[in-house]
Amino acid sequence: MTRPLAVICLAAGMGKRTKVSMPKVLLPLCGRTLASSALLAAAELKPARTVVVLHNQMERVQASLEKELTGKFEGRSLSIDYVDQGAPNGTGHAVQVGMEPLKDFVGDVIVIYGDCPLMTAETLQDMVDLRVDSACSALTAYPDDTTGLGRILRNDEGNFVGIREHKDCSDEELMIDEINCGFYCFDSEKLRPALARLQPNNAQGEYYLTDVIADFVSQGEVLPTAEAADIAEIMGVNSLSDLSLVQSVMQERILFEHMSNGVLITDPAATWIDHDVEIGSDTKILPCTVIGSGCKIGNGCEVGPFSHLRGGTVLDDGAALGNFVEAKNAHLGAGAKAKHLTYLGDAVVGANANIGCGTITANYDGVNKHQTKIGARAFIGSGTVLCAPVEVGDEAMTAAGAVVKPGSTIKAQELWLGVPARYLRQRELPAAASASTGEKKQ
Ligand code: UD1
Ligand code: MG
Repeated sequence: MTRPLAVICLAAGMGKRTKVSMPKVLLPLCGRTLASSALLAAAELKPARTVVVLHNQMERVQASLEKELTGKFEGRSLSIDYVDQGAPNGTGHAVQVGMEPLKDFVGDVIVIYGDCPLMTAETLQDMVDLRVDSACSALTAYPDDTTGLGRILRNDEGNFVGIREHKDCSDEELMIDEINCGFYCFDSEKLRPALARLQPNNAQGEYYLTDVIADFVSQGEVLPTAEAADIAEIMGVNSLSDLSLVQSVMQERILFEHMSNGVLITDPAATWIDHDVEIGSDTKILPCTVIGSGCKIGNGCEVGPFSHLRGGTVLDDGAALGNFVEAKNAHLGAGAKAKHLTYLGDAVVGANANIGCGTITANYDGVNKHQTKIGARAFIGSGTVLCAPVEVGDEAMTAAGAVVKPGSTIKAQELWLGVPARYLRQRELPAAASASTGEKKQ
C-alpha cells in the first residue's frame, strides 16, 4: 500500500544573484521554467497535494505557473496550493508555511526547490521508498566543492545525527565531505511537531529546516540517507551562468531521450529541442536546428540543417523542412517538402506538396494573422509570396516569383503567375500604430 504523497516546493527566495528583474524561478529552461520543471518532475509521482511556497513577485510567479501547468498532466489536474511565506525567514519557516494547507494531510511529504530543475522523479521516488517507518529520509552527496553547503553529521556508528550549515561549522566540521542536498521525504505526523520546535539559534538567525534532523534523533529516530546517484540532479540555479550549466544537462537529457526512440540527431551540440516535442523514429534532425515546445514530427522526416520549428508545427510522416526554413503553427502533410529559405506561418500544406525555395506565407497584415492552405501535390514556385488568407488547390501551381493577393483562391490544377504589386490605396494603419505617431494626449 503506497501512502498519500504531498510535495512542498520552496520558491520564496529573492534570487538577487541572477541580476535580472524576472523572478528567478521563472527563468526559461528548454521550453519550461525552472519552477515548472521541478514541479513536473515531482508530478510524475502523482502527489495528492502540492504546495508552492512563494513570496518574491508572488502574483507573477503564480500566474505563470497556473498558465504553464494547465493540461500538462494527461487529463489529471494537479491540485496546487500557492502560499505566501511573507518575509522569507529560512527553509524551516518556509516548510512551516507550506504545511499550513496540509493541516489534515497524513502521509509522505517531500520537499523540493523551485530553483533545482534537474531533480528527477526516480530519485524522489527512491527517497519515498527509503523512508519506510522512519521520520525522514535525506539525500546526501560528496561534491568536489562543499562551500556553502550543510555538512552531514554522523555518530561513531555512522548513523546520521544532524546537519550543520556551513556558516555554523567548526573548523573540524568543515572538513566533512558529505553534504546535505536539501531533498527529504518526511512522515507528516513527525514533521509537524518537529517544525513547531524549531528555533533560530544559528549564525543567520533563521529557522533552518535542517535542524529537524537532530530533533528527530533526540526522539530516538534512526534516519536513512541515500547518496545522490547523479550530482547534476541537485544543481541549483543562483546565477545566469548556473542556468547555462543546468540547461546543457537538461538539453542532453531531452536529446538522449529522442535518440533512444530512434531519432537520428547528427550533431547534438548544435541542436536545440525543447521539452514537450514528439518525434517519430527514423527521422533525421540535421545540425543547427531549433525545435520549440508543442511541435510534433512524424516518422521518417528530415529537419534541418538550419531549421526553426516553432510552437504548433506538425510534420506528418516523411515531410521535410530544410535549410533556413522557419515554420510556426504549420501543418505539413505526409511527404510535403520545403527545403530552402522559406517561412511557413499559420499554414496547412497537403501531402506531397512541394514548396519552392524562397516561398513566404505572409501571414500577418499588421493587425491579424491569417491562414494559408495549400493542397496535396501542389507545386509552389520559387520566390512565391502567398499573402494570406490564400487557398491553393490540389495539384495547383504558382510560377516562380508569383505574388498571390490576400483572399485569392487558386483552384485545383490551375497555374497562376505574375506580380500584382502596384499602387492600390493609402495604407490603413492599425489603431496602436496610428496612436503612437499622433500627438501626445493632454
Ligand atoms: C540549504 C540547506 C543546506 C543544503 C543546501 C543544498 C537549510 C538551512 N540548508 O541551504 O543544508 O546543503 O540547501 O542546496 O535548509 N527558500 C524559501 N524561503 C526561505 C528560505 C529559502 O523559499 O525563507 C527557498 C530558496 O528560494 C531556495 C531554497 O529554499 O530555493 C533553499 O534555500 P537556500 O537559501 O538556497 O538554502 P541554502 O543556504 O543553500
Ligand atoms: Mg541554496
